[in-house]
Amino acid sequence: MSEFTPKSICILGRQPALGLAELESLYGAEHIKTLPGAALMDIPAEEINFKRLGGTLKVARLLNILPGGSWRSAYDYLADSIPKHLQHMPAGTFTLGISVYGMDVKPKKLSADLLSLKKIIKASGRSVRIVPNKELALNSAQVLHNKLTHRGAWELLLVRSGGQTYLAQTLFVQDIEAYAGRDQARPKRDARVGMLPPKLGQILINLAAPEKSSPKRSDGKRRPIRILDPFCGTGVILQEALLVGYHVIGTDIDPRMVDYAKANIRWLFRKYPTLATQVVIEVADATAHQWPRFSCVVSEVYLGRPLKSLPEPAALKAIVSDVNTITKKFLQNLAPQLKKGQTVALAVPAWKSQNGFMHLPLLDNLTPLGYTRRSFVHAKNDELVYFREGQIVARELLILEKADR
Ligand SMILES: C[S@@+](CC[C@H](N)C(=O)[O-])C[C@H]1O[C@@H](n2cnc3c(N)ncnc32)[C@H](O)[C@@H]1O
Repeated sequence: MSEFTPKSICILGRQPALGLAELESLYGAEHIKTLPGAALMDIPAEEINFKRLGGTLKVARLLNILPGGSWRSAYDYLADSIPKHLQHMPAGTFTLGISVYGMDVKPKKLSADLLSLKKIIKASGRSVRIVPNKELALNSAQVLHNKLTHRGAWELLLVRSGGQTYLAQTLFVQDIEAYAGRDQARPKRDARVGMLPPKLGQILINLAAPEKSSPKRSDGKRRPIRILDPFCGTGVILQEALLVGYHVIGTDIDPRMVDYAKANIRWLFRKYPTLATQVVIEVADATAHQWPRFSCVVSEVYLGRPLKSLPEPAALKAIVSDVNTITKKFLQNLAPQLKKGQTVALAVPAWKSQNGFMHLPLLDNLTPLGYTRRSFVHAKNDELVYFREGQIVARELLILEKADR
């Protein structure tokens, strides 16, 4: 086995398991070691395709591994090393942000120590502006607005893991404005079908590992990758797949949704005129349709009607049974259209009850349907449930492969 030499750190989103599974799917489990809320990678930060990641907030280049896990020892190191490093930086005011993960220090103490750090840096002859911390870690908006990934600025991350601390410099931070633009600004939205957040769309696409689903041909070339979403709704998955550069096929049983998806994709092409990809969007029933060639399936299936509170047991049972039947018929229809190894990445509903999540019954019986569920080294399957506090219907992420029969 080759040695793991850490090179970068990915700071993960609110549900770290989703980000870990996504990184594992794209880069391989052997290139990742988990840290609390973060992934240590043996891939250089510049080689991580940050733009397509939905579950990672920041990607940073590893600078050093400091002995000790306390803020005090990390501070002493920074106070000594920053003035030395600044000698090699362009003249002018320098902007510094510090984000601390997993360390036992209060934000107030951190802010006070950063003022001392500022004095030390000034005394070394450099003018410096320090971004004030509201929390121990700067959020994406602070990193973006203070241009901390630009020349003349640094965001330094201190990520503690047991008795040592990883020191890293942020190279990429998630572009929250671009995400908002791809979400709220779309011309056609419909709360009744439950709008998939673009980041979750990206995660699902990456979990399908489209490149692996589309092996190279004997001449070494790869066929163009085409993503199929058979429950395309307003087209969030189609949009995110197009932005990666994939071709797409979207189908939905509801003609109104098909019109919405078409309008949204037309808008996307106006916004990103260089997208050179093929799009097919049409009306079709996912339980019966035969699709043209596709590389892999990525979809948020029918979630049942939106719920504001948990219904009475009998009503909930009817909803679960209804969704289970549609999803099962869809999987039965799809199975003979798949080749061995082709992946199907689905968001399916799970209902939040007092005793945890209620899952779709078909998840316990995938083999007769012709599928196996993929598992991950760095994330447990029961952690792959996208959920926000107060929601009733969560989305369980299910990565299937056609069984080898
Ligand atoms: C949860 S929505 C998908 C939303 C989509 N991801 C989005 O962000 O807009 C599920 C979609 O499944 C569609 N649907 C329900 N039953 C279907 C079936 N049998 N075949 C195809 N589509 C179906 C609904 O019309 C709805 O648009």
